[in-house]
Amino acid sequence: MKLFTVLCSLFLLSCTSTEKKEVSNKTDKKFVPDMDVASGMTLLMRSMYDVHEGIKKDIQAGNTPSDFPKEFLKIFTAKLTDDKPYNDTFKAFSKVYIDNERAIFDAESGIPLKNRYNNAINTCISCHTTECVGPIPRIEKLLIN
Ligand code: HEC
Repeated sequence: MKLFTVLCSLFLLSCTSTEKKEVSNKTDKKFVPDMDVASGMTLLMRSMYDVHEGIKKDIQAGNTPSDFPKEFLKIFTAKLTDDKPYNDTFKAFSKVYIDNERAIFDAESGIPLKNRYNNAINTCISCHTTECVGPIPRIEKLLIN
């Protein structure tokens, strides 16, 4: 149990430190070589964030997104920071997330598009509540009111 707590706080620490780095990168526009290499999972998450900014704009403009971004399936295989183990909770959340994400692109669904979209974003947030709380305020901005 102790080890688990330690692992969890390491997780949180690594997430918080990447968040801080991002903020300082924004104020300093010069190219600064980044000494720690971002994990595959971090890169995937950043691209998932950007793609959803686009999907949100699309939906707000009245368009219906049609192609599920297949690169999101990398969530099942991407490497976590410092080779953190890919545990069962993470696997379970990833599966629910991918199912909810696919629902956005389901042309036959009877559920309003906005609800399906927000549902997927809420799954991002649920996983982050257990795995990495740092980016939650940013992810909440992806929700459509
Ligand atoms: C299955 C759990 C899970 C799901 C679902 C998930 N995330 Fe993440 N996310 C993580 C973990 C874990 C990290 C930290 C990655 C690492 O340390 O390698 C992370 C990191 C991030 C980061 C920070 C990247 C950085 O620059 O440090 C952002 C932003 C992010 N996620 C956004 C999202 C968005 C948007 C979604 C939904 C579209 C999402 N996440 C879905 C677990 C998840």
